[in-house]
Amino acid sequence: MDKSEKLALGLSGALLILFFGAIMYAGIAKDIEVPTCITDMEPFTTDTLFQTGPDTYELQMVARMWAFQPSTIRLPVGSTVDLYLTSQDITHGFKVDRRNINLMAVPGAINYMQVTFDEPGEYLFACHEFCGAAHHTMAGRFIIEEESEPLSENITEVK
Ligand code: CUA
Repeated sequence: MDKSEKLALGLSGALLILFFGAIMYAGIAKDIEVPTCITDMEPFTTDTLFQTGPDTYELQMVARMWAFQPSTIRLPVGSTVDLYLTSQDITHGFKVDRRNINLMAVPGAINYMQVTFDEPGEYLFACHEFCGAAHHTMAGRFIIEEESEPLSENITEVK
């Protein structure tokens, strides 16, 4: 083997050892972890919709081939929703009918929007990014319900 070939091999080997050492150093000494899939982490694995105040909610939505989770969301009228959206597999879209909501669901990223539902009714949403064979079936809905009468108003006081 030629001397320069030996030198090139030796340097390549040394670089490999250096890079591998740097990865081990980052992982062990610096405690830096390789990012995991967002949909495997809380809160995407646990709660999907939870109340954060009298009229405010937080919604953790996951898009995947070919569904949204959750696909039906019931809320009282006047609710403000902090919507966090991510994807489990490939890029999807999220467009809500009659509301100014248009997000992309991107794997490894979380997109956010806040929306208030002032009118009761059904608000359909659908994937608007072609994502494969059943893209056209990927949809869901918000069901915004009229506030039920407060209990105290239905009770006749007995004196
Ligand atoms: Cu998901 Cu199209």
